[in-house]
Amino acid sequence: MIAFAWTARRGRRRGHQRPGSRRRSTGSVIASGYGRNATNSGRVTRPTRPPTAPLTSGVVRYGGDVVTYDDLTLEDLQVRTLGEPTFDSPLAEYVADRTTNAYYVAEDDRVLVDDTITLLQRRGDITLSEVPSYEPGGPRRKIFFDPATTKAGIVTCGGLCPGLNDVIRALVLELFEHYGVTDVIGFRNGYAGLVPGAAPDPIELTPSFVKTIAERGGTVLGSSRGSQDVGVMVDNLVDKGVDILFVIGGDGSMRGAHAIAEEVTRRGLPIGVVGVPKTIDNDIPLIGTSFGFQTAYAKAAESIKAARVEVEAAINGVGVVKVMGRHAGFVACYSALANHDADFVLIPEVPFTLEGENGLLAQLRKRVRERGSAVIVLAEGAGQDLIPASRRTDASGNQILGDFSGFLRAQIARDFKNRDEPLTLRHFDPGYIIRSVPADPADSVYCTRLAQAAVHAAMAGRTDMVVGRPRHRFAHLPIEEVTKRTQQVNPDGDLWLSVMESTAQPLTMR
Ligand code: F6P
Repeated sequence: MIAFAWTARRGRRRGHQRPGSRRRSTGSVIASGYGRNATNSGRVTRPTRPPTAPLTSGVVRYGGDVVTYDDLTLEDLQVRTLGEPTFDSPLAEYVADRTTNAYYVAEDDRVLVDDTITLLQRRGDITLSEVPSYEPGGPRRKIFFDPATTKAGIVTCGGLCPGLNDVIRALVLELFEHYGVTDVIGFRNGYAGLVPGAAPDPIELTPSFVKTIAERGGTVLGSSRGSQDVGVMVDNLVDKGVDILFVIGGDGSMRGAHAIAEEVTRRGLPIGVVGVPKTIDNDIPLIGTSFGFQTAYAKAAESIKAARVEVEAAINGVGVVKVMGRHAGFVACYSALANHDADFVLIPEVPFTLEGENGLLAQLRKRVRERGSAVIVLAEGAGQDLIPASRRTDASGNQILGDFSGFLRAQIARDFKNRDEPLTLRHFDPGYIIRSVPADPADSVYCTRLAQAAVHAAMAGRTDMVVGRPRHRFAHLPIEEVTKRTQQVNPDGDLWLSVMESTAQPLTMR
């Protein structure tokens, strides 16, 4: 047995009991928990002193507070299931006698949350069977739903993201071709499509319909923001005989999916709700990188390259490239790193000032004097504390951000003018372009595999969960757990460090 060492850290962080985290006396939802089935309860010991330094790497930030993965417990990660799987899976032969190896996680194994010794040690005195872990994705030998009588529905919600059509296509193909589920409908225009009369009627999805849809960006089903009445949506699912609902959407949409799953549970219905998280901002925690993100930042990198070319050909050229990223600067960081073309990267997670010796304007002047030009990559949510706050929200309840980009350009122009220095200011906004392009091949592969994992999970009866790829392993995660926090770039993490190295911008501009 593996030996570790740590100090005691007992008890739960929160007092709540996840609904369905143990077998219920009423209703149909039970836990698919590791703890319940765990056979290895051996306590582990360690040879070294427990570290005392605060955890700063691999963190998720929420509302300014650093939240760490070492907050997560095994119980938090229990995924619910609709009941015992009793049907032989048509994919059983694919997995027949497979056991875990370095490239495959068997269904009775678990994927660890912590991937360093130190992180594991910080959990204190716990046993192997208590170590936080994810249920692995993949086909099961037994499934809950009888493919012959199963009906699935798919809905896409929220803003666009490369790969939506890839996910729809792969869901349909997996359902039809591997499970033999031939009754699949697509709800139109987001959750509005689940409310009769609020959107066009659902469409039938077949392999021939979805065959070529991934060649274009966007979603063939349409999308929308905003919430709908959960009771009405569940009534409609029942009315249409939908057994499984696949929701492809962002954190708000996943909260909606959770609400639907809860209502389904409350009514004791055997309807599964499985999500494929979508966020171009890459701001959903625990799921690994979100699909479409890679395509998006690659596209944004093209604008940064264009800015570089423009400003280098000009006298005192300054390019400002505004990219998406309301509260998370991942697109800005990755697109800037892609070509080493950025001089400054501004993200919501790292505050800065404009004025003063260390402020951005002084640093920009210095860079332009030294190199003749400069490119600033700006996440849309950066610098919001430097302009008046907007009180407006969109249909999903997101705050509508102020135009910091416009403000910044005005300040740069003023600053150079005040010093009688020439300036050629160029502005680039790849915004919606990066969301509407088709997925690149790597993202297409990722979308396909996520969708396959979603179908395997749903057919096995999992519900109220999303698929993700934490630690590069396909896994199931409870919706509640991925929606209670927002993932942001950690200023103390290695990504921001790489950005600092690549741009050579000052560590702090305050
Ligand atoms: O949340 C994803 C996102 O693309 C943000 O980066 C951006 O601020 C927002 O959506 C744009 O929303 P909308 O599609 O409503 O204009």
